[in-house]
Amino acid sequence: MGRDDELRELYDLARRAMECQADLGHREIIFEAGMKKQKPIDPLPAAPTAVATSLFEETESTMPAPEYASLDDHRAAICNCHKCPLGETRTKFVYGVGSPKAKIIFIGEAPGRDEDLQGEPFVGRAGKLLDKILEAISFTRQDVYIANILKCRPPNNRDPQPDEMHLCIPYLKEQIRLIHPQMICALGRIAAHGLLETTTPLGKLRKIWHRFENTPLLVTYHPAALLRFPEYKRDTWEDMKLLKAEYDRINAA
Ligand code: URA
Ligand code: URA
Repeated sequence: MGRDDELRELYDLARRAMECQADLGHREIIFEAGMKKQKPIDPLPAAPTAVATSLFEETESTMPAPEYASLDDHRAAICNCHKCPLGETRTKFVYGVGSPKAKIIFIGEAPGRDEDLQGEPFVGRAGKLLDKILEAISFTRQDVYIANILKCRPPNNRDPQPDEMHLCIPYLKEQIRLIHPQMICALGRIAAHGLLETTTPLGKLRKIWHRFENTPLLVTYHPAALLRFPEYKRDTWEDMKLLKAEYDRINAA
């Protein structure tokens, strides 16, 4: 991402944070215990139902076939990866977790310290918040699938480098082909930019159905960003309602 984009994103963040100030007390409780009882604060953006319908219908026929027979086979084949230098510094390879039949895949950035030690994505502080977010839309970690753009921890949690992403994203693509989900949720800037091959600021990528591997993809904030900027929880809740509405619609009856 260029410096201008970064500045724009920062500016965007700051502006939105200020816009949210007025309402802060109200939204502190979102994603806490009371979240499900929270009344919607804003009406949802006009649901792009017609667009979404055709998008979701097309997915079925255009999904590429996987190369491996199962997630376990795939994991076994790649878990000693040394294609990039993170293979030298990782403790554990963090493949992914959840149901092989998940209808939704959540994709984060890269393992952090806790994930590197345990070999499982989103088990640290951000992971606990992700669990709450899932709970708020009536899912558990076992219902969905959770993975990252990178399978190995970047030293000191620095941003994933473009070459690392380039080498690692094909693994994620194979996971997506094996799981064949109905939809993907990209968590945060790195996931959104990596999957959509864009540098458009995160705020502008939200509320629109994109596509990755022919699968409808929605972008929201990263749970770690919500820990730093709780004022984003409200927007995240709007995104989750959009995701869940689409999930309910295609899985109705
Ligand atoms: N942040 C991520 O993006 N992924 C994890 O697995 C943990 C924290
Ligand atoms: N920056 C990120 O990387 N993720 C967010 O969710 C918000 C800002």
